[in-house]
Amino acid sequence: MSEAPRKILVTSALPYANGPIHLGHLLEYIQTDIWVRFQKLRGEQCLYVCADDAHGTAIMLKAEEKGITPEQQIEQVKAEHERDFAAFQIRFDNYYSTHSPENKALSEMIFQRNKDAGYILEKTITQLYDPEKGMFLADRFVRGTCPKCKTADQYGDNCEACGATYSPSELIDPYSAVSGATPVEKETTQLFFDLPKFEPLLREWTRSGSLQEGVANKLQEWMEDLQPWDISREAPYFGFEIPGYPGKYFYVWMDAPVGYMASFQNLCEREGINFDDYWKADSDAELYHFIGKDIINFHGLFWPAMLDGAGLRKPTAIFSHGFVTVNGAKMSKSRGTFIMARTYLDHLDPEYLRYYFAAKLNSRVDDFDLNLEDFAQRVNTDLVGKVVNIASRTGNFVKKFGGRLGDDLDNPLLAREAQEAAGRIAAFYEQREFSKAMREIMSLADHANGYIADKAPWSLAKEDGKEQEVLAICTTALNVFRLLVLYLKPVLPGLAERAEAFLDIPPLTWADAGTLLLDHPINKFKPLLSRVDMAHIEAMLADSRDTNPAASAGEAAAQDTPEEEDDTITIDDFLKVKLRAARIAKAAPVEGADKLLQLTLDVGELGERNVFAGIKSKYRPEDLEGRMVVLVANLAPRKMKFGVSEGMVLAAGPGGDDIFLLSPDDGAEPGMEVR
Ligand code: 2FM
Ligand code: ZN
Repeated sequence: MSEAPRKILVTSALPYANGPIHLGHLLEYIQTDIWVRFQKLRGEQCLYVCADDAHGTAIMLKAEEKGITPEQQIEQVKAEHERDFAAFQIRFDNYYSTHSPENKALSEMIFQRNKDAGYILEKTITQLYDPEKGMFLADRFVRGTCPKCKTADQYGDNCEACGATYSPSELIDPYSAVSGATPVEKETTQLFFDLPKFEPLLREWTRSGSLQEGVANKLQEWMEDLQPWDISREAPYFGFEIPGYPGKYFYVWMDAPVGYMASFQNLCEREGINFDDYWKADSDAELYHFIGKDIINFHGLFWPAMLDGAGLRKPTAIFSHGFVTVNGAKMSKSRGTFIMARTYLDHLDPEYLRYYFAAKLNSRVDDFDLNLEDFAQRVNTDLVGKVVNIASRTGNFVKKFGGRLGDDLDNPLLAREAQEAAGRIAAFYEQREFSKAMREIMSLADHANGYIADKAPWSLAKEDGKEQEVLAICTTALNVFRLLVLYLKPVLPGLAERAEAFLDIPPLTWADAGTLLLDHPINKFKPLLSRVDMAHIEAMLADSRDTNPAASAGEAAAQDTPEEEDDTITIDDFLKVKLRAARIAKAAPVEGADKLLQLTLDVGELGERNVFAGIKSKYRPEDLEGRMVVLVANLAPRKMKFGVSEGMVLAAGPGGDDIFLLSPDDGAEPGMEVR
């Protein structure tokens, strides 16, 4: 690259200092880290900063609950966060805290400049106050009965039962979630950021073309109704006191994004980087925020407006992703799918997850499903079965025939194809189309494996005088392998490091795609990655069932923790269901019923059963006689219009024509237990 490197500053959302990192968080950090590593491999000057989001009521209350100071609380959590991030190979250039002197000074500066420019309003409002605890209550800390559907115990801003939104003063029988006391209304003067003044600026910024479609649409929608934003909170609050307003604090969401700047400033001081170069209004540096879709408003409205109001640059773009689901459902403690980073690490290699995320991520705001079987299969098939396999099938022959790659390729075209893919793969990384990059890489791996299978170096190696040919084949294969490892390096830095040691080469950079590795000594091949074992996944789920994800209620944690949804049953519940093989002795239509067939079932020692089944639209009675089915044998008999049904036969499918009776395996006898 001859041009000057791009100056790029990248952030991921700051995790709250009140709970552990879980897989929902990791999607974002891994996505960001892959993108940053890619930029660095390309030689760009890309810096990645983050910090713990340390302020707010939730963190204050959490510390109180634990009997420690907020400072102790945030210090403990920060250490845990950093440890988990490091284990997942998330490599920040700086990891800091919003509770820092830099952040205090920058928040004050941004506030002051906005104030001087006339963008800060003072307004007296009435808010709910907890007289027992002596504090104003944010909406999330008021609970009560929904004014609409009358469901008890709902949050102050919306009802989880009927979805209604309202203000906390409309709740029936409201109480403080902090003390249980009945809140009273109290007047207070708050500071507001005059967001509506920024509408023209925001409209222009939103249209600048660098936002994802989903994000731009959301912002357009909100633009219709911009309101002044309350940026102050009353004591007691854990945060920064607002200069000139004793007893009032910056709302956590005011100083949190400033935390990006503060972490960067801390890095600048340490490394002698020019801070203003990146933040001045006409900066030529690029600034990207990776965030979840739940915090688009903060990053797409308040943040650019506040920056602009303070005479600073705005983000180049914000990159938003969706939520993580596991096996198609919200992460759930009872299902064991609310998986903490720590629990994952106890059982599985972090690179598996990095690869799976990469293999399915695109640049859109879609939710991401972590399907655990697919996860195991993808990793095993792609990484172990395709990529590592190239080296494991060829590395030893090189060792055997002198330990040096040859100076000739048996198939230069194959290597050229892999070299020429570099540009396409780079473009996919750049656009955050990681799944497309992975597909491209795996297709090159397929070609290499096909080639190796074709040439079968293991047979040739047994013939006399074929050493040079075997060497040229293995040199071809290992050159493709080297390129694949390079292309995967943003995703799998650990695998890359082990492969570099095996090939005995210095750390690969993107420019190395332009060269081949010839006449070069390599080391003995050692396994580079082991297969995912479903048993380890099971063990991780079992462990997660016990883990308590410190899910704090409150404004700070409100968006952070995917909700619990419980429809699981225990194995004991399941074992209560008696499943038996049964033979349909007789099947007959039921007069007056167009969906039902009446089945007479032979259930061996359990005798005969009469069952009504809703399968008439698919099955003809005469085709069913003699067929084996699976019966729920201990279902309480049910009296129907046409008689008593003594059990239920199992079928798959949504119903109507799409219904498929389940059968036990051949050889099952009536009455046998089915599991
Ligand atoms: O939603 C959250 O988890 C916040 N702690 C993210 C803050 S990002 C930034 F603005 F600081
Ligand atoms: Zn309701």
